[in-house]
Amino acid sequence: MRERLSEVLQDIKEKGNYRAIRYIKPLSATKILYNSKEHLNLCSNSYLSLHVHPDIINAARQATEEYGSGTCSSRSVAGSIDLYEELEREIAAYKGYGNALIFSNGYMANIGIISTLTDMGDVIFSDELNHSSLIHSMRLSRAKKVIYKHRDVNDLEKKIRRDRSRGRKFIVTESIFSMDGDIAPLRDIFELKKEYDVHIMLDDAHGTGVFGEKGTGLEELFGLSGSIDVHMATFGKALGSFGAFVLADTILLEYLVNRAKTFMYTTALPPSSLAASLAALRLIKMDISFKEELWENIDYMRGNLMRAGFDLKESAGPIIPIVVGEDAKTIKMQEILMEKGLFLQAIRPPTVPEGTSRLRLTVVRGFARDEMDYAIETLVQAGKTMGLI
Ligand SMILES: Cc1ncc(COP(=O)(O)O)c(C=O)c1O
Repeated sequence: MRERLSEVLQDIKEKGNYRAIRYIKPLSATKILYNSKEHLNLCSNSYLSLHVHPDIINAARQATEEYGSGTCSSRSVAGSIDLYEELEREIAAYKGYGNALIFSNGYMANIGIISTLTDMGDVIFSDELNHSSLIHSMRLSRAKKVIYKHRDVNDLEKKIRRDRSRGRKFIVTESIFSMDGDIAPLRDIFELKKEYDVHIMLDDAHGTGVFGEKGTGLEELFGLSGSIDVHMATFGKALGSFGAFVLADTILLEYLVNRAKTFMYTTALPPSSLAASLAALRLIKMDISFKEELWENIDYMRGNLMRAGFDLKESAGPIIPIVVGEDAKTIKMQEILMEKGLFLQAIRPPTVPEGTSRLRLTVVRGFARDEMDYAIETLVQAGKTMGLI
């Protein structure tokens, strides 16, 4: 067994795809200590920098004092403390839905939703760049899988028309793609729903708190709030906490409670996470300046990197991919940047397609202008050294 695993690991190393865990210590919303040196964190998904907000930390602390450090039981057994009920009610209302069901995290929510709701005879149409949790969930489903070209509604429609199955049809897409940072054509997908009687399952993990006038997510941007069949998103990104939720009609949620294994057989979230999510939600509902400040930073960072000549794909939000191409070259550039105190990750196959290895940079509200200037200047220098610009 060890021999076989070592061979695979050696192969991964030779291909330049080896991943080692990097231990860090957070110093502030945007700075971390890594290898005993201060780095600017350019890969946090805490887009609104709420994980360090005093009100949220306080809410987590108070909940720990009141409820203890853990729930120590699955939700179905004894873990559904009243904070769940409050958070479910408020997150559903915020997003324009009537009902919500909280899962312990996004990966488990996706696995639970798709593997439970789809069955033999059904068909799932999935964007080719969907997140690993969506891909994984489809592998656990007995439905037929059809992959359509990334954000290509014509290809999707062609594939729906061609399909002769008599079961239910589901379109599964991320709202903001986690590795490319671009936006799903949700309006056009919604038109297909009307025409072909398909159900839409949307993963708005990266859109929540970021897109739309009120920041409720990608649906709001397209004027579709509350109209998707199965809406899933997480508390672990812009909301700065942990956990995930599904918004759908009551029967569907009731079905998940009774059938989704990743809901039924896992320990419920700690009270501190639920209270932190609730506090974060209340803050962003009251005050859209969190979102506005984030967008000022996104525009500044993207504008400067684009003007410098980087290939940023069609990213349109806080996730900015800097495409390098070859794996080894991407690693080299990452090393140069780490050396200069920029902490960001090289994303390589199988996470992204071969030949499109990249540095994935995320912009957060907490960046000060001088931090962004330093990041831009350093990226430009490294980009020139590597012949990218
Ligand atoms: C699009 C998308 N869906 C789901 C998840 C999983 O969510 P969680 O981190 O809560 O497990 C992630 C990433 O973490 C993601 O990027």
